[in-house]
Amino acid sequence: MVNGVMHAGTVSLTAIAEAVGTPSYVYSAPDIATQFQQLTTDLKGLNHRICYAVKANSNLSVLRSIAELGASFDIVSGGELQRVVSSGADPRSVVFSGVGKTTEEIDFALKLEVGCFNVESTSELTRLGVRAALFDRVAPVAVRVNPDVDAETHPYISTGLKENKFGVPSTDALALYMTAQTHPNLRVSGVACHIGSQILSIEPFSDALDGLLRLVDELDAKGIGVAHVDVGGGLGVAYQDETALDTAAYGAMLRSKMAGRSQTIVIEPGRYLVANAGLLLTRVEYLKPAKAPGCKSFAVVDAAMNDLLRPSLYQAWHAVERVIEASNDAAACVWDIVGPVCESGDFIAHERTLSLAEGDLLAIRSAGAYGMVQSSNYNSRGRAAEVLVDDEGFRVVRSRENINDQMDLEQIGLRP
Ligand code: LLP
Repeated sequence: MVNGVMHAGTVSLTAIAEAVGTPSYVYSAPDIATQFQQLTTDLKGLNHRICYAVKANSNLSVLRSIAELGASFDIVSGGELQRVVSSGADPRSVVFSGVGKTTEEIDFALKLEVGCFNVESTSELTRLGVRAALFDRVAPVAVRVNPDVDAETHPYISTGLKENKFGVPSTDALALYMTAQTHPNLRVSGVACHIGSQILSIEPFSDALDGLLRLVDELDAKGIGVAHVDVGGGLGVAYQDETALDTAAYGAMLRSKMAGRSQTIVIEPGRYLVANAGLLLTRVEYLKPAKAPGCKSFAVVDAAMNDLLRPSLYQAWHAVERVIEASNDAAACVWDIVGPVCESGDFIAHERTLSLAEGDLLAIRSAGAYGMVQSSNYNSRGRAAEVLVDDEGFRVVRSRENINDQMDLEQIGLRP
């Protein structure tokens, strides 16, 4: 707050709302850099590479600023690979994760010589071998192992349990490595896992790494050496009053387990770098105060579940704050902050005590990760604008979608 007005860096959010309108995502490049530097400090002394998980926030400008910090990328689709390349980054240290890579995506990644294919099934390995042979390439591979550890996170974002669709059971991994080792167009590069997202304690990471290192040793015994150990992403952040993952302890755990080993650690953080570096700026359209005891009071804002799906999908909690300090806090009431979409599940936040008037600007915090990327055109709503703030000011890094942008690919398709 500067003189009662919330700022992103040196820029007031009121100035951004005036220039760009609402709803708008606002990201802070310096805040992303601070997170990156913190992680780099916490991993000091560890031979490592940070591959930012593009899925968390794939805006080209965000990717560019992360590449400039020295990170590489973790991708899960041809679209994300194209974004990495279009942002000006080098695809050759990218890791390509994902349980359903299409032939087209594999071909594209082979052509661009991505750094590693994290293979998730026997069929995928077979397909990769065939395509690499066709193009006379040698594809670097890691098998993504499912270590069957409980990440103790929301079931939708837990990925490392045996009932999840991801990865290969540790017991089957060896056979895949044997195939890869003998295939002329495949080259064993690493081992990989990713156990889930928004993980707040070290233990699941530590258990998963133990599993990976057992595999490294088994491979070693068979004469198969690996150059890197990819421990995935999942580093949890604070949204409300939870304690974020202790990244210093995380770094210490990795250092101690990797002591005496030659492999590079690859980590794939998404949320950690961007979640708290972004917010969603929205305006109160209408207030519908409760008319009778037991009724709810609704503040209808111009952002909705199509803009920020996390509350509706995962019951996720995001702080909602006034952009301009209230002149009279005593007038605060309890509001449900809801959007205009025609679903009762369309809400941003439940039961927040705020002093509100129609027209007020609100900031929905911690929206830099899995916000814009999960947006949709539901109710034919255009996607929000995106703004990046840096030391020099702010710039629009994605224009607000208009209805023509939405209809451009459609035809009525009348027969002649
Ligand atoms: N690597 C792989 C293979 C992943 O699947 C993911 C996330 C990451 C890295 C990055 O995880 P992070 O560091 O961001 O936790 N939409 C959900 C999160 C889904 C995460 C999916 N995979 C949410 O809004 O919470």
